Amino acid sequence: MSDLKSVVLTCAQPTGQLHLGNYFGAIKNWVAMLEDYECYFGIVDLHAITVPYTPADLRRNTLSCAAQYIACGLDPARSSIFIQSHVTGHTELAWILGCLTPIGRLERMTQFKEKAHTTQSVGSGLFTYPILMAADILLYNADTVPVGEDQKQHLELARDLAQKFNTTYSETFVLPEPLMVKTGSRIMSLQNPEAKMSKSDPNQNGSVLILDTPDAIRRKISSAVTDSGCEIKAAEDKPGMTNLLNLFSAATGKALSDLESEYEGCGYAQFKAEVADAVIAVVDPIRARYTTLMEDKGYLQQILKSGAEVAQKRAYKTLAKVYKKAGFFERIR
Ligand code: TRP
Repeated sequence: MSDLKSVVLTCAQPTGQLHLGNYFGAIKNWVAMLEDYECYFGIVDLHAITVPYTPADLRRNTLSCAAQYIACGLDPARSSIFIQSHVTGHTELAWILGCLTPIGRLERMTQFKEKAHTTQSVGSGLFTYPILMAADILLYNADTVPVGEDQKQHLELARDLAQKFNTTYSETFVLPEPLMVKTGSRIMSLQNPEAKMSKSDPNQNGSVLILDTPDAIRRKISSAVTDSGCEIKAAEDKPGMTNLLNLFSAATGKALSDLESEYEGCGYAQFKAEVADAVIAVVDPIRARYTTLMEDKGYLQQILKSGAEVAQKRAYKTLAKVYKKAGFFERIR
């Protein structure tokens, strides 16, 4: 990897199974960046413990998540895929950045306010979550950070902390630029097309998981909510049909308008069957690659080991600079 390439970093929590919203809205875009950027991709297990969790699930989900991302096309030969807790420096940098973070700033975080409501006892880790996220980004001096709209406020904090460190000590961090996913490519719930497809949706039929079998996909898509009328058309008053068309377009690469004319006059049942086929064509090879990867845990562990090694190298460089500038007495190695 050349030093001249600009650095892209993004991270995701190891939460169970990925769905089509994750794939079309995020992962596919990351895969497209592998060619032109130096890419880091972190599975943030330390963030996952900010809400109540089960250790066995965390362990299982972390590996499964890595396999799912790789199966989706995040190529370990062209990026570093690593587990956050395998790289020293994330929490250390978070401590230093935390000392520069006003409490009020964290109190205003909308995600904290929302999550704090849903959790019985709120740990301070949930409160300082955005500082750890800033550390994830700044530790690699990332130029660009692809994130969803809901992470915008966290990214602003990361930029402000970079700036604050730079002015408090001296020029050290690049100010990371967010790369927001286009809203047009948003995949909505099949059961409630006004809401995003989401892991936390209590209605399991709302999301198509990338590891769903063809039968499950056909069933979920055929029971997708549609609107009154029988036109195959994307329109504001037809959120159900718009969502299916968006999904179809994402799965085939065809333009919405082309699909509308191609399926003019087609019945809903037939249309849904074709959408399901298109989705299956995308998802089936992913599921097959996932299955193969999970059969060879040793290989997966090797990928994560070398991903962490590359990440660690870069992380150490930043951390050494940070310690020095912040006035810590140097340890000889
Ligand atoms: N908070 C992000 C999310 O829930 C995950 C995350 C943690 C992240 N650290 C990051 C994303 C660094 C981008 C960069 O989606």
